[in-house]
Amino acid sequence: MNILLLGSGGREHALAFKLSQSPLCKKLFIAPGNAGTAQCGTNKPFATTDFEAVKRCCINEAIDMVIVGPEEPLVNGIVDFLKDEVGDSLLIIGPSKEAAQLEGSKAFAKAFMQRHNIPTAAYKEFTSANFEEGISYLKSRTLPIVLKADGLAAGKGVIICQNHIEAISEFELMIQRSKFGEAGKKVVVEDFLRGIELSVFVLTDGKNYLLLPEAKDYKRVGEGDTGLNTGGMGAISPVPFADEAFMQKVITKIVEPTVQGLQKDGLDYKGFVFIGLMKVGDEPFVIEYNCRMGDPETEVVVPRIKNDLVELLTATANGMLDTVSINVDPRFATTIVAVSGGYPDDYQKGFEIEGLQVAVQDQHIFHMGTKEANGKIITNGGRVLCATALANDLDEAINTSRDLIEEVEFEGKYFRRDIGFEFL
Ligand code: AMP
Ligand code: GLY
Repeated sequence: MNILLLGSGGREHALAFKLSQSPLCKKLFIAPGNAGTAQCGTNKPFATTDFEAVKRCCINEAIDMVIVGPEEPLVNGIVDFLKDEVGDSLLIIGPSKEAAQLEGSKAFAKAFMQRHNIPTAAYKEFTSANFEEGISYLKSRTLPIVLKADGLAAGKGVIICQNHIEAISEFELMIQRSKFGEAGKKVVVEDFLRGIELSVFVLTDGKNYLLLPEAKDYKRVGEGDTGLNTGGMGAISPVPFADEAFMQKVITKIVEPTVQGLQKDGLDYKGFVFIGLMKVGDEPFVIEYNCRMGDPETEVVVPRIKNDLVELLTATANGMLDTVSINVDPRFATTIVAVSGGYPDDYQKGFEIEGLQVAVQDQHIFHMGTKEANGKIITNGGRVLCATALANDLDEAINTSRDLIEEVEFEGKYFRRDIGFEFL
């Protein structure tokens, strides 16, 4: 079949690599893609949010399946659009616009969890209409307290406040001075959960589901989990503390009620659900839902999936996930991200990248922010690329990832040397 994959990050390179290995994949297109995806298929130069261009590509290239990588087109309703404009025979991986609100609106996600008894932090939502009540609520809660802008805020809409003065001031900025834009004028205030985070990935057709390998990502830019938040500086899978007993709790208390909740609420969802969890003591709590795979989590999750990805996704789109089972590589996968100097603040692009050759099985360089120019591969983003390795133990995988990322050269390169540190 002919496949169109939307997106341009490391997530998309890892997916494109896996899709291109399937005998079921005839032609693979990636839009807009990067220099890495160009090695797996044909890049198309349009944005994921240009729905008309996506539609034209589906028609002109006789696309059978569209896989949506990032959240923005999903939250904007690309799945509904393509169903209406291209037709029902097109297979699409991604939730409907309504279901994508699980990521697009924190208030929608919290209400969903409450309705379906899914463990999450206690919360209340506020707008300018109940602003004063919000101030009283903030004062009544124990610290720290978490403020979340309702809409998509490019990963910046969450503020953890250590004292009430800061909380009230941020609350005011968000509601009365639109700190995070219109969508951030609705604020979810929730209790702080103290624990250790992990991410769980589910592939669902809306009624059946498969649990994919779990992962842990490292969001802070600095070693020892210090400094500013980033999109993710590295990831590992499996997560050592996610043992069988804990994962069984995750399944019965979170994954199954989530999939059943989608069905009960009539939410059309055929795609990936990324569940951000906090393990508090021995209990899992949901921090957030994302309606897509994570990046860089995909770069450790996908290499552990032994199934034919096209087969898995076709079963998903056809509502037949009950007919397939997942086959996971038991080894560890780790990835380390190399970023441009200055990231996540200002950084420069356009530096030539060298040392990209990897010819060994179980080792990958996945491109994140790269492009080709005049026959060279150059940096084109904050997160430039990541090095994934598989091995029987975590130490070995991490050491290989580090060796690979050390081989890569570009001006201003920075990476964390301590990914996986708490388990080594
Ligand atoms: P989110 O955008 O919802 O993923 O939040 C960003 C980050 O903020 C999460 O990855 C957590 O590290 C942290 N966070 C969000 N909500 C909470 C909470 N209720 N308690 C503790 N940390 C949280
Ligand atoms: N690495 C976190 C995310 O993809 O949202």
